[in-house]
Amino acid sequence: MKRIVSNHKMNLTKEEVKAYEEEIRNYQTQKCELIFCPSFPYLSYFEGKNYSLGSQNVASSKMGALTGEVSIEQLKSMNVKYIIIGHSERRNLLKETKEEIRIKVGLCLEYGITPILCIGEKEEEQNRKEEILKDEIDSVLKENSITNILIAYEPIWAIGTGKIPTAKEIDETLSWIKNYIRDNYHCSCETLYGGSINDQNIQMLNEIPSIDGYLIGGASLDVEKLKKIIDVVEG
Ligand code: PGA
Repeated sequence: MKRIVSNHKMNLTKEEVKAYEEEIRNYQTQKCELIFCPSFPYLSYFEGKNYSLGSQNVASSKMGALTGEVSIEQLKSMNVKYIIIGHSERRNLLKETKEEIRIKVGLCLEYGITPILCIGEKEEEQNRKEEILKDEIDSVLKENSITNILIAYEPIWAIGTGKIPTAKEIDETLSWIKNYIRDNYHCSCETLYGGSINDQNIQMLNEIPSIDGYLIGGASLDVEKLKKIIDVVEG
């Protein structure tokens, strides 16, 4: 079962997101799990449907006086099953630290929500990619005993740029991640790819053996494009 994660980021107005949800609500899938991660105000529009609900973030504290934040308990009570953690936009633009990411992954595991941990190198870091990925994995997993985690490999230079690594590069990197986690943390993990996925390149991506799913930003905002992507993954 492959997973298709639709990350809406900070997009869509109330009317747009309602129309979007109505369009996709009854789209049947057999071979993949659809996971929608809308902006916080719209979580309830996606609750209790055929597909799964995900969140784009969570606070690093459990509950209490933290204006503007959304807690793990609140997300759990909304039936959120997945939380994207450590997205590069949060790491780089919003200055989220490795320590916050580690705590957030720990909260997910404590509350039985699956973290989708995003890792990836910047353009200028491509020649030391494994070192970057290793550091992003170790800083989170060393202190957490993992039971259930999805790792989303998203090269930062591929996010929203239209640029994408070759199939061979993606396969090698995802295989490296799986092996690294198996050898060092004695557990298996699913690996997603993210970065400029669209209805044109999904066929190529879908042939990569180590891909367990997709984290899609821009293309997932267009229901017709998303349906084409789903159709390819469904086969
Ligand atoms: P993109 O975003 O598909 O627009 O490149 C992916 C992501 O940031 O998760």
